[in-house]
Amino acid sequence: MREFVAGLPKVELHVHHVGSASPVTVAELAARHESDSPVPADPQELAEYFAFTDFEHFLRVYLSVVNLIRDAEDVRALTWGVARDLAGQNVRYAELTVTPWSSVRQGIPAEAFCEAIEDARLAAARELNLSLAWCFDIPGEATLNSGEKTLDIALRQRPAGLVSFGIGGAEVARSPYRDIFAAARAAGLHIAPHAGETTSAAEVWDAIRLLRAERIGHGIRAVEDPSLVAFLAENRIPLEISPTSNLCTRAVPSIADHPLAELVAAGVPVSINSDDPSMFSTTLIDEYVLAGQMLDLDKAGLADLARAAVRQSFAGDWEKSIILREIDEYCTSLDAGFISG
Ligand code: ADE
Ligand code: ZN
Repeated sequence: MREFVAGLPKVELHVHHVGSASPVTVAELAARHESDSPVPADPQELAEYFAFTDFEHFLRVYLSVVNLIRDAEDVRALTWGVARDLAGQNVRYAELTVTPWSSVRQGIPAEAFCEAIEDARLAAARELNLSLAWCFDIPGEATLNSGEKTLDIALRQRPAGLVSFGIGGAEVARSPYRDIFAAARAAGLHIAPHAGETTSAAEVWDAIRLLRAERIGHGIRAVEDPSLVAFLAENRIPLEISPTSNLCTRAVPSIADHPLAELVAAGVPVSINSDDPSMFSTTLIDEYVLAGQMLDLDKAGLADLARAAVRQSFAGDWEKSIILREIDEYCTSLDAGFISG
């Protein structure tokens, strides 16, 4: 199964820039900034540093790694490394969640930040057969002002790969961000906030009603409200699911307690994603294999999961059709018997 998933053309809809930095990259950055960073440079110690006791602890550690990104060259190298790792898994298209305000706050000009990620995007298309797209997200743990700043960067810089707008980090109430998201929407950006990862179904409702979310990051708490589950299914609002992330941040106590199967059985559209693969010692391939076990899927079912993610993506129709055809061709090349749709 693993070999099948590894070769399957895939898309990734929920993966964070900094959370995908390889342990080698993080260790190098940590060594460079040893004097003012708690992040260990030793690989063994780094693995231990990435063992999280709960979601708050995860966020503290995550932000300490964010603080290691100090200049535009770091951003460029980080983005290129992430692209290489994704392409190595046969990922054809990825929406990478980037948090420009974290870098601007560190002193990297918005223009230089956008130029760095765009350089990596163009190189990935040219050299890796990988399309990258950006979801600009607001760091929830910062003030509301960070939301306005993120919007401002999105609208002023408008890098060509920018497709969507979101909010991540601490799960603060979404209602104060309503006008900011309305402006992002009016500017033509798709809306894909994190909601209901560790909090409640009510936050998912707010993301839909107040922010007008088209997809929800995590959203697993939706399972606590049957009317919300029905709403997501009827209105085809997908959840971006990352099982290992939810386990590592203790958003769920065990994989057996994860609501993925219940949500899928209720007809909620889902995609499978890696979130912060390096910090959770996972990959997109691992997440597909795990989701396959959780949902008791055969190869045809896994290919359907990959197709669903393509359809839920914010890629253009032409790009979607190319990746869907690649999935079909991959399945046909292995066994004409298991094409579904
Ligand atoms: N930023 C990086 N990973 C995140 C997660 N799982 N939830 C919220 N914000 C994040
Ligand atoms: Zn996330």
